[in-house]
Amino acid sequence: MHDFKYKNNELYCENVKVSTIARQVGTPCYIYSHNTLVDHFTKLQKAFAEIDPLICFAMKANDNMAVLKTLANHGAGFDIVSVGELRKVKKIKADTRKVVFASVGKTEEEIVEAIKAKILFFNVESEPELVEINRIAGKMKVKAPVALRINPDVKAATHAKITTGTLKNKFGIDLATAHAIMKNTKKYPHIKFNGIHCHIGSQIITKDPFVKALERVLEFLDDVKADGIKLEYLDIGGGLGIIYKDEKPQTADKFAKAVLPYLKKTGLRIVMEPGRFIAGNAGIFVTEALYLKDNGVKKFLIVDGGMNDLARPSLYDAYHEIVPLKKKAGKKIKMDVVGPICESGDVFAKDRALPVFKKGDLLAIMSAGAYGYVMASNYNVRGRGPEVMVKGNKFEICKKRETFNDLIRGESVPNFI
Ligand code: LLP
Repeated sequence: MHDFKYKNNELYCENVKVSTIARQVGTPCYIYSHNTLVDHFTKLQKAFAEIDPLICFAMKANDNMAVLKTLANHGAGFDIVSVGELRKVKKIKADTRKVVFASVGKTEEEIVEAIKAKILFFNVESEPELVEINRIAGKMKVKAPVALRINPDVKAATHAKITTGTLKNKFGIDLATAHAIMKNTKKYPHIKFNGIHCHIGSQIITKDPFVKALERVLEFLDDVKADGIKLEYLDIGGGLGIIYKDEKPQTADKFAKAVLPYLKKTGLRIVMEPGRFIAGNAGIFVTEALYLKDNGVKKFLIVDGGMNDLARPSLYDAYHEIVPLKKKAGKKIKMDVVGPICESGDVFAKDRALPVFKKGDLLAIMSAGAYGYVMASNYNVRGRGPEVMVKGNKFEICKKRETFNDLIRGESVPNFI
């Protein structure tokens, strides 16, 4: 479900015509629906109501502060991966005690700041990282809360670049090492071992990999219990898939039904880290048609947004639906939708049957609310377009378009040149 729908052949976000926004703020731009964000968040909350989990939005999917505040207002915590993300959580005055911190490469600065912010726990990804957190916590005369991120070695049927739960990936601690750590917790006097974390990948559309991973986690938890260690939390990560094209992903209810029996068995407080499930279909990327080029072999629709703005299609061959803001009658023709960047990979869609667009027509690239703006770059010295939040019949820019001065800030030519 999302709130981008046609009314009288015009695409709306909630009660606002998308073309009105685009004409006012310019293209390319990202537009988010407040209602969709809340709806997806509450769907998960409701599906898991009987265990009342802490839902930590994986803010790597979308870190716009308007998005974060929307979710924090509904009780969300945050899954962070950098001190920058932590600072955004603080900036919106969200509760840092509802923050979990993953990342295979946490620096001392990040660890210190997170300890000071009293985050819920660090998801620790290696033994050397644990040694480092223990050392820093010792220096600060505190005990740092930690959940070991175990790597269950489970393959999730998703794109190779977004699978994380096998031993060929850099994430998490293999089970043998994790066992050894848990058997020897005395080695880490400044660590409070209070949880286990597991995240196996992203855009996973069936329950099976989650169930398989949970079975391994439960075995691990049994062993830990036998060692006499009392844990408080199980963090099951994120990874729930969404509809980009014709996927039939599990709903929140179906997912809950599949995993709840396992979760209840643990008796632990459950944390989850959905990103895409909440934000993916709550955002679109709007771009304007510049040229239609026909070289006799292929037709190319050239638009003003590029792979620097929305990288998923070029990075992962990801499919994103493309629709006109104003529905067009007439036949469709096959074309590649491409951006202006000087790379052949700057393609949003290949051989896609689309209406015949003309210069100035506006298009929406759908399902761009997760891993869209956050992965944008300034490649080709292109300023990122604005982000806009819509709520009901209101809309507002929640991040301004970058100017040329933004792009050259801090840049200079040394005197010796
Ligand atoms: N927790 C951890 C530890 C993660 O690494 C991730 C995503 C999540 C939670 C959230 O996963 P989600 O619920 O959003 O699937 N840029 C890629 C996706 C990278 C995912 C990275 N980790 C894409 O555009 O598909």
